[in-house]
Amino acid sequence: MCGIFGYIGDNKNPLHACLDGLAQLEYRGYDSTGIAGIQDGHLIVCKKEGKLANLQNILTLKTLEVAIGHTRWATHGKVNDLNAHPHLDTMHSLAIVHNGIIENYDALKAQLKNEGAAFVTETDSEVIAHLIAKHYEGDLLKAVQTALPFLHGSYAIALIHKDHPDQIIAAAHHCPLAIGTNDAQTESIISSDPNALVGGFLKILFLRNAEIARIEKGNVQVFDSHGNLIVKTQERLECAAKAPSKDGFEHFLLKEIFEQPITIRKAMLGRFSSETAKVEFDDLKITAEEARNYKQVWFLGCGTSSLAGSIGAMYLEETAKIPAFSEIASEARYRTELIGPETLIIAISQSGETADTLTAMRAFKAKGCRTIAICNVKNSTLTREADYSIDLQAGPEISVCSSKAFTSQIAILALFALHLANLRNTTSAEALDLARAMPFIANQIQTVLEKAPQLEKIAKKYAHFDDFFFMGRRYMFTTCLEAALKLKEISYVNANGYAGGELKHGPIALISPTFPVICFCANKKTEEKIISNLMEVKARGAPIVAFAPDSMTQIHSIADDLFTLPTTIDPLAPFASAVAGQLFAYYIAKERGCDIDRPRHLAKSVTVE
Ligand code: G6P
Repeated sequence: MCGIFGYIGDNKNPLHACLDGLAQLEYRGYDSTGIAGIQDGHLIVCKKEGKLANLQNILTLKTLEVAIGHTRWATHGKVNDLNAHPHLDTMHSLAIVHNGIIENYDALKAQLKNEGAAFVTETDSEVIAHLIAKHYEGDLLKAVQTALPFLHGSYAIALIHKDHPDQIIAAAHHCPLAIGTNDAQTESIISSDPNALVGGFLKILFLRNAEIARIEKGNVQVFDSHGNLIVKTQERLECAAKAPSKDGFEHFLLKEIFEQPITIRKAMLGRFSSETAKVEFDDLKITAEEARNYKQVWFLGCGTSSLAGSIGAMYLEETAKIPAFSEIASEARYRTELIGPETLIIAISQSGETADTLTAMRAFKAKGCRTIAICNVKNSTLTREADYSIDLQAGPEISVCSSKAFTSQIAILALFALHLANLRNTTSAEALDLARAMPFIANQIQTVLEKAPQLEKIAKKYAHFDDFFFMGRRYMFTTCLEAALKLKEISYVNANGYAGGELKHGPIALISPTFPVICFCANKKTEEKIISNLMEVKARGAPIVAFAPDSMTQIHSIADDLFTLPTTIDPLAPFASAVAGQLFAYYIAKERGCDIDRPRHLAKSVTVE
């Protein structure tokens, strides 16, 4: 994974342009940061372990003629200054930055070492620098063209050479890389994420399939893997005028949690009419016949997006009466054997760049399946490769830990279930209930947000525990998994999520007075059963925190701490409950002094498998 940025042009000092770009890409990893550039015929490199601020603290450079930069999420090699990108060849003539994994790096390294290359890092990426240097005979593009076929794996790379201050060479294979030029042809910018390009209009193209680009000031030439010049379509992109801000909130996560009443409305805007209960998605062109022909739907995703898929599967089964399954993308890709065009694939991803999700979607596409991407980033690889895409319209999510994207994903999935039910002509009671209750979600979330101080108080009381047991049934089972994931991600505490029915099949052995049980109770159909589970827990002395609807009176005498939620139908209970879970995790992380927006070892977008 990692983020790559590069700048060549007159409009900005390439050094500053690169530092600004890296700040936007830090969500892709922040184990280390580095910059390489050329000044007066010299190759200059500066790199540092940790976040961009650490690099800025040691940077004495003032200006560069051309610059490339990198923000790292470590795969091969420890997190330290040495393994930080950019990497150099033995003669320190060229510098490369890399996103991806070179799977055959070990064999290449041994061979290049034999031939005299001096390796200094533990990374897989360093072989790229030595390999290109080996093939360099004065023409940088040619050296890259010759070297790339030796690399197995995935890559987006950018490269500069001290003898070619007027160019950056870039290449990409299964990793995203956008190249932008301005209308006046005075600058060119490369970035792992086009959304990291701030200010003005740019013409953008995306490299793929081992394509190689020679990038000069305001000019880009792209070649295929055989060296043929190819004409790429460029898209016009209006780049955000300014970097996102916290708008007065202490963390991006808190800001994004509080945005949810708005983002939920945006997810439905122009798509759902509460009067007619009809759903329209502009870019989705599934016909009624096609919808009727599907035998099943599979949801693919990772992390939080995968959990959204689990809720989506329940929506589709209950509302559109079609069998639906949610599978973790990194596992699903090995389960394509029995699948064909009768299966509809829905790939869910906030970023649209998660390698596991992309790989799985490609595998199902290869089996003839139609694919729909549900995504928050327009122009991402997932949206470009899927047959159709539905935009979350949630706005940039900066905090590594996902919040508003999750609730927007499940809002879109509820709408999609209604849409499919309509197309398949299955007007069920469940569909009618769902359509009637959808307009109230935003207000229910607002009710939870207004009681944030109460959650803060409860979180403070439990923040010193190192182990938590999350429990729920049906819709609340997935919700409890999501809440447990939030807590793990940002507080680094052990948080296990289990279906209530599974308690007696093993985890009950863990229950003790030092093991708080966090129970999500807002699933009416399973209310009596979850109460029984809580009684089993109570009998064994564990403290109980319950997130329960205000209609659930019995819970008052059972829970040690209770957070009440607005009552709604079971399928829509995950919205308010998930927001309560997000706030609970947030306040525990805050109490424990964790780095909330940039949790250790994580990255917002994971572009390696
Ligand atoms: C990373 C993030 C998670 C996220 C997952 C999927 O692991 O740390 O918070 O849920 O990727 O990301 P996606 O962009 O595909 O939704």
